[in-house]
Amino acid sequence: MVETTMAPSRIAVQVTVNGKSYAAEVEPRLLLVHFLRENLGLTGTHVGCDTSQCGACVVYLNGQTVKSCTLLAVQADGGDIMTIEGLAKDGKFDPVQEGFWEMHGLQCGYCTPGMIMSSHALLQKNPNPTEAEIRHGLEGNLCRCTGYQNIVRAVQYAAGQIGPDGKVAPAPAPGPVQQFTADGTPPEDPETVQEWGDELAGRSDDNV
Ligand code: FES
Ligand code: FES
Repeated sequence: MVETTMAPSRIAVQVTVNGKSYAAEVEPRLLLVHFLRENLGLTGTHVGCDTSQCGACVVYLNGQTVKSCTLLAVQADGGDIMTIEGLAKDGKFDPVQEGFWEMHGLQCGYCTPGMIMSSHALLQKNPNPTEAEIRHGLEGNLCRCTGYQNIVRAVQYAAGQIGPDGKVAPAPAPGPVQQFTADGTPPEDPETVQEWGDELAGRSDDNV
């Protein structure tokens, strides 16, 4: 007799996102980007292609940038994630966000969250990149609007803001566990920094 096993319909996941811990039960097929956007309500991370081309979905996972459309939420179990909403600190933009603001490194803003996260990672590794290194470092992020010139200027601006330790902004420390189920209920207390991140990304309720 052949024994069959049923895949579990829901799998428990616990992650820390922007310093807050979340516990949820999710479908095994749920992509990390959809978990962030739809389950946690962190819509600053965008979905531009679903085919690992555009980079709009870039987030940090355990200190490394990842395209969150290429990972399952269950693969991030136990992980420490930072999204664009976690970049500003104490009501102040990260230097990379400031650079995109000051140098007008965006038009429609759709690519901007991923561009900023990848630029942040680039500057963590190389605080003083050349123009060629910036362009090479952002090869995994596509922008249909800007022609990239002001994006490069934004990163150069941010590079000028970095301190002597070569750091841009550390990932936030993990916070207390917040129970959160996968029923589509957004987390409590949407933060001011998220609104600022949305503003920087040019996001409104019309173009999420
Ligand atoms: S949505 Fe992930 S790379 Fe485009
Ligand atoms: S895709 Fe529009 S600003 Fe980059």
